[in-house]
Amino acid sequence: MSLNNGNKTGKFITFEGIDYSGKSVQAQLLCQKLQDLRLPVVAIRDPGATRISEEIRRILLDNKNHEMSYRTELLLYEAARAQMVHEIIAPALAKGQVVICDRFFDSTTAYQGYGRQLDLDVIKQANMLGANEIVPDLTFLIDIDVHTACARRIKQEMSADRLEAEGLEFQNRVRQGYLQIAGEYKQRIYVLNGEQSIEKLSLEIIQHVKNRLKLFA
Ligand code: TMP
Repeated sequence: MSLNNGNKTGKFITFEGIDYSGKSVQAQLLCQKLQDLRLPVVAIRDPGATRISEEIRRILLDNKNHEMSYRTELLLYEAARAQMVHEIIAPALAKGQVVICDRFFDSTTAYQGYGRQLDLDVIKQANMLGANEIVPDLTFLIDIDVHTACARRIKQEMSADRLEAEGLEFQNRVRQGYLQIAGEYKQRIYVLNGEQSIEKLSLEIIQHVKNRLKLFA
C-alpha cells in the first residue's frame, strides 16, 4: 500500500514462494541495492521482526507442536503479523520508507488456505485483520517445482521445520495456490521462474521495481 501521510509516501514490497524458492536471498539482494542507492529501506520477515512476533514464530515452527490445530495456526500467523504491522510496517510507510518483507498475507492464503484447506473467505478476513488492511504495492512470487525445492533442502542439509515437514503433496497445493493468487492479483503480483540463477533473478527484480515503483532512475 502507498500510505499517504502528509506528503510522505512509503512503498511496500513483499516476496513470496514455497520454502527453498530463493525468495529470502532475493529480498536481501533488493534491500542491498536500495541501500546502495541511499534509499531508506527496512527489511523484515513474516512471521518475525518484532520480539513478540519472533516468539510466535518459534511456536509456529517448532516440530514439538504437532497438536496445533489449523485454526490456531492461522490465528498465530495473523497475530505475529498484526504486531509487526503495528511496530514496524505502518510507522515505516508513514515515514516514507521502503519496506521489504519476506512473506506477508499471501503466504497465509497459500499455506493455510490452499495448503491446510481452510475456508478462503475466512482467510481473507483474517488477513485484513492481521495486516490492518495494509496491502503490498508489489509482490514477487518466486515459483519453483516442489521437487527442486526438496532437492535444495537436502543439498543444504537443513532439517524440516513443522510446515516443511508436511510433505510434497502439501507443498504442491501451496505452490498451486500461489499461482492461483497470482492469477487473481495480476497487477500486484509478478511471477518469476525460480529455476534461474540468483543473478538473473535479481536483475529481473530490480528492473521491475524500477519500472513499476519509479523509486530510482
Ligand atoms: P520462512 O521460513 O520463509 O520464514 O517461513 C516460515 C514458514 O511459515 C514457512 O514454512 C511458511 C509458513 N507460513 C505459513 O504457513 N503461513 C504464513 O502466513 C506465513 C507468513 C508463513
